[in-house]
Amino acid sequence: MTKRIYAIGERPPLGHVPEQMHAWLVRPERFGEPLQAFQQEVIDVPSIADDEVLVYVMAAGVNYNNVWAGLGHPINVIGIRNKLGEPETFHVGGSDASGIVYKVGKNVTNVKVGDEVVVHCGTWASDCPSVKRGDDPMYSPTFKIWGYETNYGSFAQFTRVQDHQCLPKPKHLTWQAAASYMLVGATAYRMLMGWQENQLREGDAVLIWGGAGGLGSIAIQIVRTLGGRPVVVVSDKEKFDHCLSLGAVGCINRNDFSHWGQLPDLNDAKAYGEWLKGAKSFGKAFSDALGEKRSADIVFEHPGESTIPTSIFVCKTGGMVTICAGTTGYNANVDLRYLWMRQKRFQGSHFANDEQCAALNDLVIEGRVDPCLSQTFTYEELPLAHQLMYENRHPAGNMAILVGATERERAHSDGAEVAAET
Ligand SMILES: NC(=O)c1ccc[n+]([C@@H]2O[C@H](COP(=O)([O-])OP(=O)(O)OC[C@H]3O[C@@H](n4cnc5c(N)ncnc54)[C@H](OP(=O)(O)O)[C@@H]3O)[C@@H](O)[C@H]2O)c1
Repeated sequence: MTKRIYAIGERPPLGHVPEQMHAWLVRPERFGEPLQAFQQEVIDVPSIADDEVLVYVMAAGVNYNNVWAGLGHPINVIGIRNKLGEPETFHVGGSDASGIVYKVGKNVTNVKVGDEVVVHCGTWASDCPSVKRGDDPMYSPTFKIWGYETNYGSFAQFTRVQDHQCLPKPKHLTWQAAASYMLVGATAYRMLMGWQENQLREGDAVLIWGGAGGLGSIAIQIVRTLGGRPVVVVSDKEKFDHCLSLGAVGCINRNDFSHWGQLPDLNDAKAYGEWLKGAKSFGKAFSDALGEKRSADIVFEHPGESTIPTSIFVCKTGGMVTICAGTTGYNANVDLRYLWMRQKRFQGSHFANDEQCAALNDLVIEGRVDPCLSQTFTYEELPLAHQLMYENRHPAGNMAILVGATERERAHSDGAEVAAET
């Protein structure tokens, strides 16, 4: 341990951990929009437990969850941790990272100092009875998203992670590309592959909302590389090319329709008739985009309130609507007749377990899924990246922030040419 504080981009000798580090902090007294919520401070480097790893962060990914953390809404992540006995009155966010292992706890065997890793954001207590029993740890009451529900995420020079969160960094990717895909990628993988019976199969027709977004860009590629046929929905014709280049077989512009939002009163024949007309014409647009008269085997959902009625409607008999968010609202309603008579599955899905993260990472390592990094920000620009996301002014695909990686490494990583930034 040394008292010296290393500058951003200045890498301490391998395995050498300073006492203090630079970090972007959220504190309750400045909860609000990202430009206000995030401020730079110098704090102690956290200590690690026997099954934990200290990673020197080269780059961090940008996700919605830390927009929420900064707002202090819908939950105050700091207040919740304080109630559970954690003393820190601040939040270091960041749920995606690429970096180098600098220190390992004495029980860690899967990585060693010097390993180049990407970090997935699923954490749980290894002594939880359900985890010990072999249940999916995603169902453990101890499950938490690292860098959102837990402290010491990747918006700092060092991050504290559980050993199983570390996966090999794809060698062909820059640090920033490697930091940008895991949270959305593994989430998309579980949504498509995690729900037996309705797991994606070759030839399946899949409707993907927000095809040019972070989740959607990766979902298109997973569906395509595993043999499915993705049809995407976006809000602008200009996004079609992005989605088609990733493997979408067709695109729908949601602004060509107006039946969005909650279902009308089903007893109001006129209002319901109008809604039904909109939903049927959307169903036709799906078939036209697919090139076959057919309903969706899987609907990949995250807008929520404004799209759920349509998603349930266009899902085939015995098909699945799989959902991981309610970006437009949580108060969705469903015409239950379609759910039970047509035996459709409405499946909630949240992040992913170790096996699903590893499977997604392998697809990236094999070059079958590209992270779709659209923009890289400097360390100083971290609040700006989140502000753009908050205002929905961020570019298509995924964003990353340089932490330990320098401007030179922005151009080259592991000697490989830069992955193209669109
Ligand atoms: N539970 C989990 O584990 C998990 C993991 C990752 C993300 N999420 C959540 O999933 C959501 C999407 O994340 P992301 O990273 O993909 O965000 P993103 O990059 O901003 O993409 C979201 C997309 O949603 C579409 N959209 C916006 N308003 C819409 C509306 N009214 N109707 C239909 N589509 C609309 C937008 O596309 P168009 O405007 O082109 O339609 C946008 O591209 C967020 O709420 C995030 O918090 C959850």
